[in-house]
Amino acid sequence: MTVLVTGGAGYIGSITTRLLVERGFGVVVLDSLELGHRAAVNDVPLVVGNIADSDLVTRVCREHKVSDVVHFAAYKAVGESMQNPTKYFDNNVAGTHSLIAAVVSAGVENVVFSSTAAIYGDPDIVPVTEDAEVRCESVYAATKRMTEQILEWYSATRNLRSVSLRYFNAAGAASDGTLGEDWRYSQNLVPHVMKALLGFAPALKVFGNDYSTPDGTGIRDYIHVEDLAESHVAALQYLRGGGDTMICNVGTGVGTSVMDIISTTERVTGRAVPYDIAPRRAGDPARYFANASKAERVLGWTSRRLLDDIIASAFAWHSAHPHGHAASQA
Ligand SMILES: NC(=O)c1ccc[n+]([C@@H]2O[C@H](COP(=O)([O-])OP(=O)(O)OC[C@H]3O[C@@H](n4cnc5c(N)ncnc54)[C@H](O)[C@@H]3O)[C@@H](O)[C@H]2O)c1
Repeated sequence: MTVLVTGGAGYIGSITTRLLVERGFGVVVLDSLELGHRAAVNDVPLVVGNIADSDLVTRVCREHKVSDVVHFAAYKAVGESMQNPTKYFDNNVAGTHSLIAAVVSAGVENVVFSSTAAIYGDPDIVPVTEDAEVRCESVYAATKRMTEQILEWYSATRNLRSVSLRYFNAAGAASDGTLGEDWRYSQNLVPHVMKALLGFAPALKVFGNDYSTPDGTGIRDYIHVEDLAESHVAALQYLRGGGDTMICNVGTGVGTSVMDIISTTERVTGRAVPYDIAPRRAGDPARYFANASKAERVLGWTSRRLLDDIIASAFAWHSAHPHGHAASQA
């Protein structure tokens, strides 16, 4: 029994792949390497190719006896998805559908899928639960919701069960400092903070300090990437144990403001973060964070790492790898 990890050479995929191997799962990675890196996969079998290549996916499933899929491969830049919706519908929806159809035909019964809390848009109630109204405010979020629905329909009609994990804000790096995010492709706050801190970018822009939050800056739920990786192992075990198709938040349940991130970074690293206050960005909600009780109840998973761990691991990773994995490949 082998787990096919799509996008396993990317940020979250590589850290999850390593954890799966450590936990004794057989793993094969399928990644186009468009945004991922060979060095991030180490000696795990890597097939370089596209999820939309049905013949390739069918062959990989047969040759590696694939029983489960953990599906990370997608584009993730919200702004780009509004500029170029075709690119996102093609890869995230059409590519994913092609993958799902191929793996179902090959006998795969379990899929764990990387969904997103962006599906909730600006929720009325926080912490946000899985039954909150879906309010996609970007093409990117819509592609993730469409994929959840595709998976639900395959469950209703074929022998496929799935867990769609709605991630909140993934952050941090592997605690041994060897795997992390490639900040060239990241729109996330923590890599931007690190870029400014390490002098690879001008001052950080804090978008809005007049929200109705205690310090006026936006509040999100930052989940350590290693905790996030653990949630995939828990979801796989749940599915292998016969669990039903479901959607599940993966967050800490703690809201953290932009200023909290800056002050924690300054305390943990002992360095000042240069920043400027800029106007709010259109469409940015004031606050959202997870109600993560379903993950605890159904998957037996909770986040364990703290914001300090996120900052310390990100700082260690970005200081040592200012060019991401690119340097390791040179
Ligand atoms: N990073 C976050 O905060 C966050 C939050 C919510 C959801 N997600 C989702 O989690 C998943 C992983 O995110 P990440 O931050 O690790 O992104 P990433 O860009 O680092 O990794 C994605 C990987 O998928 C590969 N890929 C993309 N399209 C492919 C295709 N058609 N065929 C084969 N490989 C392909 C890329 O080369 C890359 O290695 C994505 O689906 C993303 O939408 C991420």
